[in-house]
Amino acid sequence: MAVSADPLPSRVADRQIGTSTDTRRQEEGELTDQVRVVIVGAGPAGLVLGNILRARGVDTLVLERNSREYVQNRARAGFLGVHSVRVLTEHGLAGGLLRAGRSHGTCVFRTGEGELTLYYGQLGRGESHVVYPQQDLVTDLVASYLDRGGELRFGVAVTDVDPATGTVRYRDSFGAGEVTGRFVAGCDGGHGVTRQAVPGRPATRDHGVSWLAVLAAAPQSMAAVTYALHDRGFAGHMARGPQVTRYYLQVQADDEPSAWTEERIWTALGERMRVGEYWPLRTGPVTERRIVHLRSAVASRLQHGRLFLAGDAASLISPSAAKGANLAIMAAEVLARGITDVLTRDDERVLAAYSRTCLPRIWRAQEFSHWMIELLHAPAGDDPDIGFRRSLRRARLDSLRDSRAHQDFFAENYVGI
Ligand code: APR
Repeated sequence: MAVSADPLPSRVADRQIGTSTDTRRQEEGELTDQVRVVIVGAGPAGLVLGNILRARGVDTLVLERNSREYVQNRARAGFLGVHSVRVLTEHGLAGGLLRAGRSHGTCVFRTGEGELTLYYGQLGRGESHVVYPQQDLVTDLVASYLDRGGELRFGVAVTDVDPATGTVRYRDSFGAGEVTGRFVAGCDGGHGVTRQAVPGRPATRDHGVSWLAVLAAAPQSMAAVTYALHDRGFAGHMARGPQVTRYYLQVQADDEPSAWTEERIWTALGERMRVGEYWPLRTGPVTERRIVHLRSAVASRLQHGRLFLAGDAASLISPSAAKGANLAIMAAEVLARGITDVLTRDDERVLAAYSRTCLPRIWRAQEFSHWMIELLHAPAGDDPDIGFRRSLRRARLDSLRDSRAHQDFFAENYVGI
């Protein structure tokens, strides 16, 4: 395997000062030397990895393009599966989510023929989600990483990585610089630079569906995650916090978020959620609206030389089954174990198997997410297969309603990986 077998660099001995810009950086307390693990990106993947490594005494440096305020306020996912909760708990990172997270084990499919309610927390392996907004998790992870003595630089944009040498080049307010890692973790999300340093084309799919992702400053309207299937398009409802609810609306790919006024959003949600037949939505100011194109991409391999990809950098998954953050935490844990084994015991087995361990799990999640996408979205009116696809969708829901085995299978895939 191609990971370096160099003796572990001592942090002090390996400090190298290069250009005059580097000297200035050193004077100002900036880093220009070698660390054992350089982590690109302070999202869930990079921060979970950094936290676990720091707890084991590994020298780490996280480089994050955006500001601390930005990453701690970026509202994204919120549903953590059992595996994620276990990883976070085992590594002392679950204080906030155990205090403020809410257990969630019910989802509803609402159609013109009624509702199908699945108490998935009592199906399958009897496992539920914990709802904990991602920005709160990221805030906790930044604080604990710094408490553990981790080095984290905000406002540093990595420009390229050399997987052979572990050299990471970046730009920050001082100009250009570089740092070398014995290992480099590419945790820079779905549009980052590190994935470009890994050869091979990712397997991609454009699902041909776009959502308007809405955050509303309003309490949840229903007790459960609700998926509304409607000929005008999908609408979704997901709890986030006591006064924050996530809604999704299927929209045209070229829609501008600004074209969706608050009134238009609540009208469309009400229609697709069939509030006339159920109960009204609890409305509130819309605090965020952005268009999400449902796309998937899975790297063909997750390692090249000293570089390892994790999280969205390894695999971009549509939000239809809330898997993105859970996959990020899964990969971060495996990678942390692999790196620690090499550094502490010179044991390369886990690290050498990193791609082989993670890729099948990623593909299982992609498969389930793809199944959800097919279920949730109405074929367009000009789709020649419209009748066939609508009937298939109905058969899928019938199967979920009538078959306990299917319900158990759904529950296992929905909460687990
Ligand atoms: N240099 C430094 N940092 C970068 C660069 C770069 N060139 N490019 C991106 N980043 C940072 C981003 O600013 C972001 O903070 O990398 C971080 C990546 O974080 P996420 O996008 O959250 O990705 P990840 O940690 O893999 O988590 C994936 O969490 O946010 C959800 O929907 C997402 O569910 C998915 C999961």
